Amino acid sequence: MKIGIIGLGNIGRVHAKNIQDGLVENCEIVAVANQPIESMDDFKAQGIACFDDGSALIKSGLVDAVLIALPTALHAPLGIQALEAGLHLMMEKPLACHKAEGERILAAQQRDDQIVSLMMNQRTHPCYVKIKQWIDDGALGELQRVSWTMTNWFRPEIYYQSSAWRATWKGEGGGVLMNQCPHNIDVLQWLVGMPSKIRAHCSFGKYHDIEVEDEVNAYFEFPNGATGQFCASTGEAPGSNRLEIVGDLGTVITDGNEAKLICNSESVSAFSRSTDEMFGCPETSEKVFQPLEAVNQHAAILNNFVKATRGEAELIAPAVEGLRSLELAGAMIYSSWINDAVELPLDSEAYEAAINEKIAQSKPREVVQTTAKVDMSKSYR
Ligand SMILES: NC(=O)c1ccc[n+]([C@@H]2O[C@H](COP(=O)([O-])OP(=O)(O)OC[C@H]3O[C@@H](n4cnc5c(N)ncnc54)[C@H](O)[C@@H]3O)[C@@H](O)[C@H]2O)c1
Repeated sequence: MKIGIIGLGNIGRVHAKNIQDGLVENCEIVAVANQPIESMDDFKAQGIACFDDGSALIKSGLVDAVLIALPTALHAPLGIQALEAGLHLMMEKPLACHKAEGERILAAQQRDDQIVSLMMNQRTHPCYVKIKQWIDDGALGELQRVSWTMTNWFRPEIYYQSSAWRATWKGEGGGVLMNQCPHNIDVLQWLVGMPSKIRAHCSFGKYHDIEVEDEVNAYFEFPNGATGQFCASTGEAPGSNRLEIVGDLGTVITDGNEAKLICNSESVSAFSRSTDEMFGCPETSEKVFQPLEAVNQHAAILNNFVKATRGEAELIAPAVEGLRSLELAGAMIYSSWINDAVELPLDSEAYEAAINEKIAQSKPREVVQTTAKVDMSKSYR
């Protein structure tokens, strides 16, 4: 694959290094786009075509595919151009700033064999992969409850101060739900499906000088009556990551380092109806999964993308599934705005109208600090 990377900031550089380190098979960077043009002198020195605008790269005719790693508000305009040009597309997460915008990107696909993938790299996280396998094998039985406390996305003030677009309605359509947690809400729905109703309380600019949410407490209801909680924050440290999924036959728990499956000896609902023991409980047995080694999740998703374009693999994270995390994030934000529960599917036009009012008043941040130390390996949890 001849790939062009559009956006060589924090994450675009990570992808470029993965490809240039040979971690992505059958893939070569032939063009890059970033601003300013001098920021790509290292690529220019290697004979790679450099553009100061993603549109020019798309029109260059040099590439079969583009990887878009731009500020989120630019995903839609450039993504649509790339698809209309017939290119394969790997989009950074989230797909867009809101569901309607995501739908417009997907509508630009020209051919069935045009591959459109999303960098939901945590779908390759070994613990989540193992949990998905347990659930698909029926180990949990019918879902009763899911709870995810995802508060170890701490970000200090300099993270926001060093960028004009992050944590603004206009720049990315939200805060912790649109920047850090798309991974978690994507994995959540990947594992247990979509809820049918959400009531959420988002706190906007509670811990940081930002206009969007930096703390979220949400309650979910699923079509079968199962319930859920989702709690997220960029304001607490060290924070925690604890996912618990409870079914009639078992429970899984993970902190992202290991995953535990607790199997009940029989269905809890059947046991409840049949036992004569007043304080009885089904017997349990446990399995613990500890990943043997870390996975380079970004490289894994890129490898899968290249293979999919060659007809050698199904996509792990098709872009169309990115609409679901946009819908969950939007429903949590919308529920807070209207101070009421929101039924899903989210009305994408109504949500677009509501977020457009926020965008109209949204101010790009004046960048007050440009010397932030950046270690991207500390950015993922
Ligand atoms: N999957 C992950 O682990 C992960 C991690 C970080 C960021 N992201 C996502 O990736 C995207 C980018 O985030 P980032 O932190 O790298 O942002 P960034 O601000 O560090 O980088 C964006 C780059 O885009 C360039 N740019 C802006 N307009 C352009 C244009 N028209 N043409 C070409 N280049 C242009 C800028 O010069 C900048 O270098 C966001 O959507 C973010 O949510 C994903």
